[in-house]
Amino acid sequence: MKKWFESGPAHAIGDYTFVDFGCGKGRAVLLASEMRFREVVGVELNTGLAELAQENAEVWTKAGKALSPIRIVCGDALELEWPEGPCLLYMYNPFGEQVMRQLVERIQSRFAGRPRDLEVMYQKPEQAVVFGDGFQMVWCEAIAMSEEDRVADPVADPKDESQAYRLRVS
Ligand SMILES: C[S@@+](CC[C@H](N)C(=O)[O-])C[C@H]1O[C@@H](n2cnc3c(N)ncnc32)[C@H](O)[C@@H]1O
Repeated sequence: MKKWFESGPAHAIGDYTFVDFGCGKGRAVLLASEMRFREVVGVELNTGLAELAQENAEVWTKAGKALSPIRIVCGDALELEWPEGPCLLYMYNPFGEQVMRQLVERIQSRFAGRPRDLEVMYQKPEQAVVFGDGFQMVWCEAIAMSEEDRVADPVADPKDESQAYRLRVS
């Protein structure tokens, strides 16, 4: 997130909606909500995980840790009703190539003519090929994990890359 701030997004943080496609139990959603986004949205297809994400969001909000409103949407990322205004899209390796290609088509059509309103953060980017000609990579780096992260997510590997993209202005 710090890297993203430093890369010079076009708008103030409070103008962006943070969207986690495939939010699981909502850890990234909770952490994002510690910043003052316009809204933090987690989209999750698996009903059980979405319910857990919702419970976690309620606990987090009640504890006063969420500085942004949180919304969990149980459903298919491809059918999300897009928020208005600028978006920061976050993905932790959620989909295979076919779904990623469809998602990128939707992103490109949604943000056509307003490239300054879109930011993408893609962790463990196994389908990075889908961000071909239409996107500009802002950075790509393996970012060290804290001990807390390692304990919270034993599956993640500190060698996993994080990539950030913006729509290419043609
Ligand atoms: C690798 S997990 C990422 C979990 C979480 N974002 C994190 O950082 O810990 C990918 C998640 O995407 C969800 N998913 C898969 N296909 C989906 C779809 N079409 N729409 C929404 N979520 C989906 C899976 O159920 C899974 O919870």
